[in-house]
Amino acid sequence: MHSFKGHSMGNLFDYLKDPGIISLAGGLPSPDMFPRQAFRLASRKRLKSDIDRIMQYRPIRGEPELMEAIQEFLRRDGISVTEENMIVTSSGQHGLDLASRLFLDPGDAVLVDRPTFSGALIAFQLQNPRIAGSEIQEDGSDVDGFRDQIKKLKDIGVRSKFIYVVPDFQNPSGITMSIKKRRALLDLSYETHTPIVEDSPYRDFRYAGEPLPSLYSMDQQERGGHVIGVYTFSKLFCPGIRVGFNIGPPDVIRKMVEIKEGDIFNTPKYNQDMCAAFLTEMDLERHIEQCRRYYSRKLTAFTEAMKRCFPPESGIRWTEPDGGLFLWVTAPEQVDTMQWLHRAVKRKVAFVPGSVFYGNNPPNNHFRVNFSYASREELTEAVDRLALSFREQTCR
Ligand SMILES: Cc1ncc(COP(=O)(O)O)c(C=O)c1O
Repeated sequence: MHSFKGHSMGNLFDYLKDPGIISLAGGLPSPDMFPRQAFRLASRKRLKSDIDRIMQYRPIRGEPELMEAIQEFLRRDGISVTEENMIVTSSGQHGLDLASRLFLDPGDAVLVDRPTFSGALIAFQLQNPRIAGSEIQEDGSDVDGFRDQIKKLKDIGVRSKFIYVVPDFQNPSGITMSIKKRRALLDLSYETHTPIVEDSPYRDFRYAGEPLPSLYSMDQQERGGHVIGVYTFSKLFCPGIRVGFNIGPPDVIRKMVEIKEGDIFNTPKYNQDMCAAFLTEMDLERHIEQCRRYYSRKLTAFTEAMKRCFPPESGIRWTEPDGGLFLWVTAPEQVDTMQWLHRAVKRKVAFVPGSVFYGNNPPNNHFRVNFSYASREELTEAVDRLALSFREQTCR
């Protein structure tokens, strides 16, 4: 593990201990959206009726009650799975780790967008693969770029084991993959026999536009077996409970169950029970509607403040996502956002410099903004502080 450095974002979080800092850095959902009361009630009920099983070893694949609730959850999205297609995970990061351990041997390639989710990059880096990236475009992954990479890698004897994408409101860019790109990506997967790992934590957080079919559902209606879905309840329910699930072909999932036996064994039943209660007893659709309204108002507050403080002549641009929890800011090329961050922190605002979202050769003029955690007033204040620190940075 000498060459493995963990998450380069890790020490950034030290900044956030200062209570005066407005953080646009982490990917935290707002506690305002935690169904606290319903959680307490469900917890009391389960501890009363089921404490012995909660305190016991449990099945590795997952609790039958949760797996049934997940099947219903996916049916809303046009996906039909049975138990053999699913494994409960201890959240999205664990789901990514399972996929990565299963598919990657040292030196194999994994294809990713540039930028992409930094947690996925570190999960992959644990297996020492070659990370092959293509610049993301306004309508999602550069599928032709992926095709070229797969071919070039094949020519030098490197196997591309899977393509990793976050098609809906990508972390960090906020970009959503168009239907045309989804189609093209699936075709590429069929053509080159390269599986797709579709990571979907934000799918239900759509604030504008019409939902697009998931890659998993599109594949299921066609050939099937080419997409592995990675899901988490961290954003929709709460991250502290650490529960998610992966779906895929039975042989892939069976292997993941075997790996899970060697890493964490079973996800705690109590945590799974709380998730099952969330899905079946806590009025899921109303909760989703509330989250949409709440986060979309924050997104509007943030982008309006950006428009006020960063006019076109500032050279600062940003994505305007249709959902999710993040947007992506691009500064003129000569601006180093790591240096900007140091100034911003002095002005008591923090973001994540874009360089952590690239497997290699990062550009330095981007940063990611999370708009879900700070209040609307704080978001407006944060943008004022960003503008101040930007002027200090450019006037130096
Ligand atoms: C795209 C993506 N995948 C996976 C995760 C992992 O989520 P968790 O491990 O908290 O469930 C996150 C968290 O921010 C994410 O943004």
